[in-house]
Amino acid sequence: MTAAIRTRGLGVTFPSRQGAVRALHNLDLTVEPGTVFGFLGPNGAGKTTAIQVLLGFIQATTGTAALFGEPVTESIARERIGYLTENPDTYTFLSGRELLTMTGRLFRMSGRQIRLRTGQLLEETGLTAVADRRIAGYSRGMRQRICMAQALMNDPDLLILDEPTGGLDPLGRMEVRRLIAARRAAGKTVFFSSHELSEVELVCDRVAILVGGELAAEGRVDELIRPGESLERYFIELATSKNRGKEQR
Ligand SMILES: Nc1ncnc2c1ncn2[C@@H]1O[C@H](COP(=O)(O)OP(=O)(O)OP(=O)(O)O)[C@@H](O)[C@H]1O
Ligand SMILES: [Mg+2]
Repeated sequence: MTAAIRTRGLGVTFPSRQGAVRALHNLDLTVEPGTVFGFLGPNGAGKTTAIQVLLGFIQATTGTAALFGEPVTESIARERIGYLTENPDTYTFLSGRELLTMTGRLFRMSGRQIRLRTGQLLEETGLTAVADRRIAGYSRGMRQRICMAQALMNDPDLLILDEPTGGLDPLGRMEVRRLIAARRAAGKTVFFSSHELSEVELVCDRVAILVGGELAAEGRVDELIRPGESLERYFIELATSKNRGKEQR
């Protein structure tokens, strides 16, 4: 089966006045369709950089990346995806309902499809009561929720979420977990970055851990950690030992 995401030797180096920053190095990643994949790593590990390459926002310095077999440099690769950015913000002069309607039009959905899907997503993200208020008056978590609804508008085969639970209350986090599980139940793929490791453990089929731009571990959670150990502990050990290794070099 064609992988939902496949990267080979992916690297990104940013130029900077203090010298080049190697954000990502030699990343080989395969995400099978129909799975939930957690993309982990400390702050600055390269997660958002990798996601931006997948979305075609930035170009890789080395290597290749493909979505459902299409190189990410081709716009067709992006037709089947939904995306939630790390710092969700949007057209705040629109109401939530208007934003979703506009998004549906961009995807050339019919008026009937748009009305149905909008109502359903507003309900699922707990925004029905504020649907006709301008987004400018939404709280941070409410903005996060409407951007999540927007990412789901086209019923994407691959949903890419960069820290989807960042600004959410415990109830909101639970709803995101439920939403992710529902995508998988519908045979869709979810690829998301997160620092909420206890949640990642609950919802992910597989995880990859990036440290300093390099893949430090990849596999099923129960393959990576010993019985009784938590993913958080494993993560901290991995991140600190890699950093220590770098200092000694
Ligand atoms: N546009 C840019 N120009 C220069 N350096 C950049 C740029 N974007 C990211 N970087 C650097 O690349 C590295 C990886 O950053 P990235 O945002 O991918 O990390 P992250 O894993 O998403 O971290 P976080 O968990 O904090 O969101 C960091 O060292 C960062 O400073
Ligand atoms: Mg990030």
